[in-house]
Amino acid sequence: MASGTSRDVLGRGLWVLGRAIREQPRIFAVAVTGSVLFGLLVIASAYVIGGVVGKVVVPAIARGSVAGGALALAATALFGISVLRVVGIFGRRLGAGYMQYRLQAAYRRRVTRRYLDLPLAWHHRNATGTLLSNANSDVEAAWYPIAPLPFAVGTLVMLVGAVVSLFLTDWALALVGLAVFPALFALNVVYSRRMAPRQARAQRLRAEVSGIAHESFDGALVVKTMGREAQETARFAARAGELRDALIAVGRLRGVFDPMLETLPSLGTLAVLVVGAVRLRQGAISVTELVSVAFLFTVLAFPVRAIGWVLAELPRSVAGWDRVRRVLDATGEMPYGEVTLDPATPTPATLAFHDVHFGYEPAEAHLPGTEVLGEVTFTVPAGKTVALVGPTGAGKSTITSLAVRLVDPRAGTVTLDGVDVRELTAASLASTVALVAQVPFVFDDTVRANITLDRPGIGDEEVWAALRLAEADGFVAALPDGLDTMVGERGTSLSGGQRQRLTLARALAGRPRLLVLDDATSAVDPRVEAAILAGLRTPADGGAPASILVVAYRRATIALADEVIYVEHGRVVARGTHSELLATVPGYADLVTAYEQAEQEREQHRTYDEVIPLTSGLEVEVDR
Ligand SMILES: Nc1ncnc2c1ncn2[C@@H]1O[C@H](COP(=O)(O)OP(=O)(O)OP(=O)(O)O)[C@@H](O)[C@H]1O
Ligand SMILES: [Mg+2]
Repeated sequence: MASGTSRDVLGRGLWVLGRAIREQPRIFAVAVTGSVLFGLLVIASAYVIGGVVGKVVVPAIARGSVAGGALALAATALFGISVLRVVGIFGRRLGAGYMQYRLQAAYRRRVTRRYLDLPLAWHHRNATGTLLSNANSDVEAAWYPIAPLPFAVGTLVMLVGAVVSLFLTDWALALVGLAVFPALFALNVVYSRRMAPRQARAQRLRAEVSGIAHESFDGALVVKTMGREAQETARFAARAGELRDALIAVGRLRGVFDPMLETLPSLGTLAVLVVGAVRLRQGAISVTELVSVAFLFTVLAFPVRAIGWVLAELPRSVAGWDRVRRVLDATGEMPYGEVTLDPATPTPATLAFHDVHFGYEPAEAHLPGTEVLGEVTFTVPAGKTVALVGPTGAGKSTITSLAVRLVDPRAGTVTLDGVDVRELTAASLASTVALVAQVPFVFDDTVRANITLDRPGIGDEEVWAALRLAEADGFVAALPDGLDTMVGERGTSLSGGQRQRLTLARALAGRPRLLVLDDATSAVDPRVEAAILAGLRTPADGGAPASILVVAYRRATIALADEVIYVEHGRVVARGTHSELLATVPGYADLVTAYEQAEQEREQHRTYDEVIPLTSGLEVEVDR
């Protein structure tokens, strides 16, 4: 992660702050106004205190009695200043808080929105834990210095005011100020530069720790069944230890610099008293002025720290911002077109692949990407069922991703009803096709919400109809709360087959005109699978049948298809009916027979509907 050298961190940090100000100019103006008001009143209070000492207290001591009128006046002035200072602090705090949290919320939204817009290829390259930390701690880190920023800006104005008022008072005292204030500023800059690499490292380790944690929870089943608890814990502990060391390094630096920043203004006050005593004896200044200036130095010490806070947070802010920007600037999202496809009466759609070539982007940009699909041409005619058959890794899932436009081809076209899918609007694509992916994804919500996904026009009647088609109505009706049953994170309270049928019902509820099933019923009993497919071909409720592209393994399923496309190594090797291929393509016959044998063996050893292991990593299933 390019967090930059410490040298340019200041410049880039200021740029990030500038961006924050451009985004929230009005709130920033309120906060800075409050802060400047406060700063000027701090100077004013120093001079009023000086005045009280010089004009009221000293004469009173000399006289032995207090002048009531002068005292009342001084008290009123101090009270007025205090009230105005409260107003200033209120405006600054409120403005800074608003600004910081609004920016955080806005960027969290932007980052998560961007995740959904980015193509699958990008998600394959980025760990889920990193994405979580991008949206959380990186966004927070980027806007951390916003909280003390208005205070720091007000303090800068105050320092200028202080130097001016020092010059108006006495040049010798002004010189002390001119030595102390820039020294304070310089110390702060050195501090933030030293801090930069340490903060960047800590921020990167935060993301890695959250990544490992996420992976081991996500893969809890694998970890447990393989007895890898100790190793997983050790892997996590090692990285957590690195994070601890990085944070201690940050703390150590703080420990060195914080006392220095604290001491410098006190040394300034001391210098003022020494120089001031000389000047007083020379008659150059009055007691009033000396007390005012000495007091000014003591009250300045605290606000000057605000500049230090901003500078100290800048490296972390830049590191966070870099990581956020990497997401916001990531390219490759697929622009949608303008064409809509939705006919007045729902009819099955025609899907066609024309000489499609595709390759996944290599994990690292400099590696060559290999071609996964080449010269793929086939059609799923309206209302027909086409089965995709081929060995593992042949490219079947890749074809289904292209069919629903999760990815775009390198060359060639994928069309729906003759229109290139790249020309369709997102909404039209979503209402036309539905993919049930190889790995079912279930949200931690009710059965109903999992099926409707808040899409309009899907009431309970439609939900039950979809569940019936997916042969899921039986088990859902038997759930304790029916449609209102919570299914747990990723559907952990459901069996593998139940989860598959739920995601199938979700796809069906949208009444797609083309249904793409990627091995979507593998955990379902073969008889049920055949019944589901038959039901989809001729819906019992008289609705229009959808066109179906199905990745299939079982003979019974394949036999239901109007046509079988046989793929090997990303190429369509043969096509025809099941019996034609059995007779003419030796590889096909071998594969189907092998599947059948494996199936029979499996059936002897275990029951279907068992829980399939949670997989680690990111599964993105898009039900359109
Ligand atoms: N995200 C990815 N990045 C890089 N290569 C990938 C990716 N997904 C799949 N591949 C590769 O593309 C090829 C085709 O994969 P695909 O998932 O389409 O096969 P499949 O026919 O669906 O296999 P299976 O029957 O095991 O599901 C494989 O060689 C695989 O290694
Ligand atoms: Mg697959």
